[in-house]
Amino acid sequence: MNIEIIKTTTPKAKPDSSNLGFGKIFSDHMFIMDYTKGEGWKNARIVPFGRFEIHPASTVLHYGSEIFEGLKAYRRADGEVQLFRPIENIRRMNNSAERLCLPQIDEEMALEILETFVSCEKDWTPSAPGTSLYLRPFMFGNDESLGVHAVHNATFMIIASPVGSYYKEGINPVKIMIEAEDVRAVRGGTGYAKCGGNYAASNRAGERAEQKGYSQVLWLDGVERKYIEEVGAMNVMFKINGEIVTPALTGSILPGITRKSCIEVLKSEGYKVSERLLSIDELEEAMANGTLEEAWGCGTAAVVSPIGELSYKGKVFTVNNGEIGQITQHLYDTLTGIQWGKIEDSFGWTYPVK
Ligand code: PLP
Ligand code: COI
Repeated sequence: MNIEIIKTTTPKAKPDSSNLGFGKIFSDHMFIMDYTKGEGWKNARIVPFGRFEIHPASTVLHYGSEIFEGLKAYRRADGEVQLFRPIENIRRMNNSAERLCLPQIDEEMALEILETFVSCEKDWTPSAPGTSLYLRPFMFGNDESLGVHAVHNATFMIIASPVGSYYKEGINPVKIMIEAEDVRAVRGGTGYAKCGGNYAASNRAGERAEQKGYSQVLWLDGVERKYIEEVGAMNVMFKINGEIVTPALTGSILPGITRKSCIEVLKSEGYKVSERLLSIDELEEAMANGTLEEAWGCGTAAVVSPIGELSYKGKVFTVNNGEIGQITQHLYDTLTGIQWGKIEDSFGWTYPVK
């Protein structure tokens, strides 16, 4: 495909990679392409990063037609840059697009776009331990009219941000509050799609949790408020009485690529992983009687993040004495080892970018 590249004439200085935080600094360029029904995708271009105009009636501003992805480019010790399972992000994006009536992007074309863009912004991939270049592909409905219907015009973009750890705690255990009032998603809704609206609906509970000193909320299912679903920006896994358990993908949970990778790593090593319904009652009992051995969250931004404290309806439970557990540490070491090219990628998950 033809991607026009317009380079910036005023490149920015690269940031100090010891203090990047998450998503606050952006690289020099961004990718944009436009879609019109009947014509398909067109005008693929990489242009200097910056503000752009949209019509005040644009669909996204009124009806929330927006989906996004999150993946990272990692700088290996030998200086090369690689992606982690990018095809999985592309497939999930198309699934999200289908749910929100946004257009599909051909897998090969999406991969070519991603590669071309990362190659252009390669110098922005930091090399300090634990850092990476976070890539944020996103698509929004861009009809210039107020009628409510599937969109005829859309825009797809990618921006890039050099990042450090997502939580200020880094790999240290985080505190999570189990949310008993608000719900994030229901089956039949958009829970399995990575759409902006899911996050907008999550903010109120997230704010309340933050005010009480918690990093994020753990959601219960939207119908019975009984089954564990996922954390704000991560899937969750538990080790209860020797069994590794993670909520089954029932339609209201995001099918995380890190979740999938953790399951595949564990299964390849002979561990049994149960993807099943896990009720809050079962979890509460395990927390009370000490059989909850480990709890961790997993996601692209946070990688593998130990959960050291869980609270539910005012009751506070400490997990594994607030320390990182053995399986959690092992998954962190394995995934980050593969991502940063420190250990052999026997799964074929990495994707080098020239
Ligand atoms: N669940 C939610 C709600 C998320 O935002 C994320 C982050 O992407 C995840 C789970 C983990 O998904 P992945 O591992 O693909 O990043
Ligand atoms: C990611 O891990 O890529 C996420 O999407 C989390 C994000 C909402 C910050």
